Amino acid sequence: MKQPEELVRQMTLEEKASLCSGEDFWHTKAVERLGIPQIMMSDGPHGLRTQKERVDQLGINESIEAICFPTGCALASSFDPKVMACLGENLAAEAQSEGVHTVLGPAVNIKRSPLCGRNFEYLSEDPLAAGKMAASYVKAMQAKGTGVSLKHFAANNQELCRMRVDEHISGRALREIYLANFEKVVKEASPWTIMCSYNRINGTYSSENTWLLTQVLRKEWGYTGIVMTDWGAMNRRTIALKAGLDLEMPSSHGETDKQIVKAVREGKLDEAFVDQTVVRMLAYIQKCLEGMPKETSPYDKNAHSELSGKLEEECAVLLKNKNNLLPLKKGMKLAVIGEFAKKPRYQGGGSSHIHSTKVVGALEAFDAMDIPYTYAKGFPYDEDKEDEKLFEEAINAAKDADIAIIFAGLPESFESEGFDRKDMELPACQNQLIARIAAVQPNIAVVLHNGSPVTIPWLDKVSSILEMYLGGQQVGTATVNLLTGKANPSGRLSETFPVRLEDTPCYLTYPGNGRTALYGEDIFVGYRYYEKKGIAVNFPFGFGLSYTTFTLSDLVLSNEEITDKDSLTVQVKIKNTGNRLGKEVVQLYVANPKDGEELRPLKELRDFAKVELKPQEEKTVAFTLGKRAFAYWEERLHDWYVPEGTYTICIGTSSKDIALQKKIHIKATTAIPFKVADTTTCADVWNYASNSGLLDDLLRRHGKDPTDPQEKATWVDMPLHSIVSFLPVSMEEIDELIQKLH
Ligand code: BGC
Repeated sequence: MKQPEELVRQMTLEEKASLCSGEDFWHTKAVERLGIPQIMMSDGPHGLRTQKERVDQLGINESIEAICFPTGCALASSFDPKVMACLGENLAAEAQSEGVHTVLGPAVNIKRSPLCGRNFEYLSEDPLAAGKMAASYVKAMQAKGTGVSLKHFAANNQELCRMRVDEHISGRALREIYLANFEKVVKEASPWTIMCSYNRINGTYSSENTWLLTQVLRKEWGYTGIVMTDWGAMNRRTIALKAGLDLEMPSSHGETDKQIVKAVREGKLDEAFVDQTVVRMLAYIQKCLEGMPKETSPYDKNAHSELSGKLEEECAVLLKNKNNLLPLKKGMKLAVIGEFAKKPRYQGGGSSHIHSTKVVGALEAFDAMDIPYTYAKGFPYDEDKEDEKLFEEAINAAKDADIAIIFAGLPESFESEGFDRKDMELPACQNQLIARIAAVQPNIAVVLHNGSPVTIPWLDKVSSILEMYLGGQQVGTATVNLLTGKANPSGRLSETFPVRLEDTPCYLTYPGNGRTALYGEDIFVGYRYYEKKGIAVNFPFGFGLSYTTFTLSDLVLSNEEITDKDSLTVQVKIKNTGNRLGKEVVQLYVANPKDGEELRPLKELRDFAKVELKPQEEKTVAFTLGKRAFAYWEERLHDWYVPEGTYTICIGTSSKDIALQKKIHIKATTAIPFKVADTTTCADVWNYASNSGLLDDLLRRHGKDPTDPQEKATWVDMPLHSIVSFLPVSMEEIDELIQKLH
C-alpha cells in the first residue's frame, strides 16, 4: 500500500467517504482500485468472537471455536500487568491465525456500581488499576502486530438505556475517575483504535463530542489512532466526523457515506475533515497489514486452554480462610455441592461471549487428579428455586464429609451485557442451602462464580471463601489447584465488596430513569467513598489472602520535601515470612492533606507491584511518583494541580491494611490565577490578593473593623458587589476597588 498522504490525493470523494463506515459487522471497506484491502475485527476482550460467515451480531453461537480466558473482573484481580501482557500476546497469536487484524477490547470502564451488567468485562473501580493493567495488555498485543480497540470511551457505566442515556458528570469526576483510566492507556500504550461509547456525556453523544474526541483525546493526550463507534453508536454522521469520529461500525449500508459526500458537495462540510479521517484510517490499515504475518499458522488450542487456567490461578481471590481450612488436607473426605462444580459459570453474556473449545469444571479437575469426593447438586443451576429433595441430598453429603465445598454464584440470567442487575443478591435458594449446611458442617469453603460483588449473608457461617469470578474455560482446573494448594492464591480485589447495596456510592441515583444518570457521588467512587464516609465493607479494595504470610518493612522516601515538578522515589521491603512460595501485591496509596480547600478522597491508589517470593525471601520494591500522584483536576486552571501541603505515602496490602506510612511535604510552584470580579468574595480577596488591605480600608472607612474575628465572619462569604446592600458604598467605589485589586 502507498503512503496515506499520497493515497488520499488519488481517492475520489466517494472512495474517501466509503472508508468512514464498515462494509458489514466486522470489516472495513476495501478500495480495490487503489489496492486498499479490508480490515477484519472481532470481539474480545478475553477471547475471540470471530464470525467467519457474515452473520449478524446476535449470531453468538455461530462464532468460531476459541479459547475463553478469564474475564476482565478476574484478570484485574491478578493485579499483575504480566498476566495482562501474556493474554495480549496469546490473543494476538489467535487473532492472526484467524485472519483478524483488531481485537475489540480491552474494556476499561469504571465500576461505578456493583449492579452494572457489564462489570464482569470491566477491570476496576479505580482508574489507575484499570489503566495500568489495560496498558500492559495493549502494549503486548500491538507489539505482536494485532490492533486493539480501547472501549467504551467514555463513561459507559450502566446498561440501562446505554444507547441514549445522558450522564451528568462533573468536570473533576470525569478527569479524575472516568477519563484517567483511558488517559493512562493512551499515553502509555498508544492503542491503534478507540471505541466511543453509546451514551451521552453532559448532553452530547460520545460520537459527536468534539471536546472528548478532539480536545481531550487528541490535543491534550496526543492520540494518533482512529476512533470508531461502538456498534450502532452513530447519531449525526457529519457532526461526528467533525468531532473526530473516524469509523462508523458496523455498516450503514452506504447511507452515511452518501451524507458525507452530499455535505461536502453542498459546502456544509469541509473536505479537509474527510481527508484527515481517511489519512488516519489508511495509517491504521497499514499497521494492520504490516502486523499480520504473511503466512498464518494455527495456534495450539490445548496449550492456550491450559494457559487460560494458569492465568486464572493468578486471578482468584481468597477472601476468607478461618483456621487455615484451605488448602485441603490430604485424606479429607470432600462433599462437593452445587452444579457450578460440574458446569462452571465462567464467562458473561453478550458481545464477549466465546464459543469455547472446551470447558473444564472442578469435578472434572478433581477426577483428573484422582481426588475422591461425593457430589450433590444442591440447587438448580440457572434459576432461584428451592428444591427440598436437592437440599436434603446436599445436607446429607455435607454431614458425612470432613468439609463441604459449596460452589455458588450468579446464574447467567442474573448478569449480562444488555441489562443491569436489580440487586446484589445471590439466588435465595443458594443462601438458604449454605445456611442449612452450616448447621450440620462446621468446615465450609464456598467457591464463588460471579462477575461483580454479591451480598454475603452467610459470611460468619463459613470458614473459607474463594472468589473465582468468571474465570474462563479452565476455571475448574484453576479452582482445584488453588483448593488443594498446588497453586497459592494471589489475586486481590480490584473492587470493594460492600455489605449492602444501600451502602454503595451511587445507590440513590444508579442507574437513573433511562434518560439521565446523575453522577451525584462525583469523585467518590469505590473505596474513595467508603473511606470518606467511614462505611464498613465486607472486603476492601485491594484485599486478598494467601496460604503464606508477608511482612512489609523499611519504607524509605528519596526526599522529605519536593516541589510539584520533582519526582519522588519510594522503596519498601517485602518478605515472605511463611513456608510456601507466594505472591503479594504491594500497594502504594497517597493520602491527601486534610485541610485543603477542595474535597479530596482520604487516599488514592497511585501504584502497585506484584512480587513473587520464596519462603523467607525478601525483595525491595521501588516506585517513582510524579506530579499526578498528588494532583487533583483544578477547573480554574484547567489542569492538574498539587496544593502545597503534607501528603502521606501509605504502603499496604489493601486500601484498609496499611502497614507503613511516611510524610512528604510538597511545595507548589504554580498558583491558581486569581481574577477579581464583582462576584469575588471578601474571603477570596483576603486569601489571594496581594493588596487585600484595600478592602480593609474600605470597610474601615464605613466603621467596620476587619481585624475583629466576629466582624470579619460577617464579610467572608460576601461577594464584593453585595457590599453595596449593607454599607453606604456606591457601585463606582466597588468597581474602583476591583480595578485596584487587579
Ligand atoms: C458492544 C461492544 C462490542 C460491539 C461489537 C457492542 O454492543 O458494546 O463492546 O465490541 O457490540 O460486538
